Amino acid sequence: MNSLSILRVFLNGLAAWALSAALGSAIAQQPIVIKFSHVVAHDTPKGLAAEFFAKRAGELTKGKVKVEVYANSTLYKDKEEMEALQLGAVQMLVPSLAKFSPFGVKEFELFDLPYLFDNYAALHKVTQGSIGQSLLEKLEPKGVVGLAFWDNGFKSFSANTPIKTPADLKGKKLRIQSSKVLEEQIQALSAQPQVMAFSEVYQALQSGGVDGTENPISNLYMQKIYEVQKHLALTEHGYLGYAVIANKKFWEGLPADVRGQLEVAMKESTTYANKIAKEKNDKDLEAIKKTGKTQVYVLTSEERLAFKKALAPVHVKMESRIGKDLLERVYRETGSSAQCAAGCYCRGGTCAITCCR
Ligand code: LMR
Repeated sequence: MNSLSILRVFLNGLAAWALSAALGSAIAQQPIVIKFSHVVAHDTPKGLAAEFFAKRAGELTKGKVKVEVYANSTLYKDKEEMEALQLGAVQMLVPSLAKFSPFGVKEFELFDLPYLFDNYAALHKVTQGSIGQSLLEKLEPKGVVGLAFWDNGFKSFSANTPIKTPADLKGKKLRIQSSKVLEEQIQALSAQPQVMAFSEVYQALQSGGVDGTENPISNLYMQKIYEVQKHLALTEHGYLGYAVIANKKFWEGLPADVRGQLEVAMKESTTYANKIAKEKNDKDLEAIKKTGKTQVYVLTSEERLAFKKALAPVHVKMESRIGKDLLERVYRETGSSAQCAAGCYCRGGTCAITCCR
């Protein structure tokens, strides 16, 4: 080999080394992508908290993780997204607590019980305490890691006719999420439950496929419910919140330092989510009123009590599905007045009507 050939081989080698070094560092800098899918609008408590998490995850991992948020069912609808998570097609979701039955974890339907939580403080005793933690752990055998609970708020009923008493909903087709407890709730009002994906509700209300629905105000507003429902009664008869979940294999396969940073981002996002939820619902109520298209009705305390009384039997009927011990622990730790309502009206107890707040 003459010296020119030696130089050529040397230069080729150098070029190959430089190329592979450049590729190697490009690959090393590829961020870990987390597809984070949900079904509601961006400007809702859940949508905003998901964006907040994406931002903090990027910042705390210094760009090692890129969270891509897909809002508004753009990637998957309710039922599909659960399957997609288990298959690993998305890495994170934040479904409402009513949607955990497909995982076979019926205890989550606890949160659907009418008038279970008297306020956010009572609710947080469960979601931010040891009961909440033990519920999240129940997801692990399903290949899912439960990371946090995020609030939305208390649900109200809407329809095209005024709602002041339980009888006003009699016979109506009401859209619900896929939860047996919600089904019982609607039947307790002598109405007809219609399970439907969130993304289909507006059209069903518009076409008359269903007569009414229930959701916290922020969801009703962002869904433009005021365009298709003439009446909204602030029944606040049940809670709707979320569990943030991840594909277990993916989550546990993350480098430990990255997972730790994401856990910090999640903690911050949970504080943020639970701070903005009530503010957002209050703001959106004013916005609905301002449209002038939907009449907003505030129940008197007697009217509210009539709803509570009508829905109390749901607690007793669903006790074995949810688990008696779990339910009693929740009643005890939250001081729920629903227990009293159930006792008064369904168990033939001797409570007087005044025990029901
Ligand atoms: C619904 O389907 O009504 C809710 O779960 C939507 C949501 O995720 O807030």
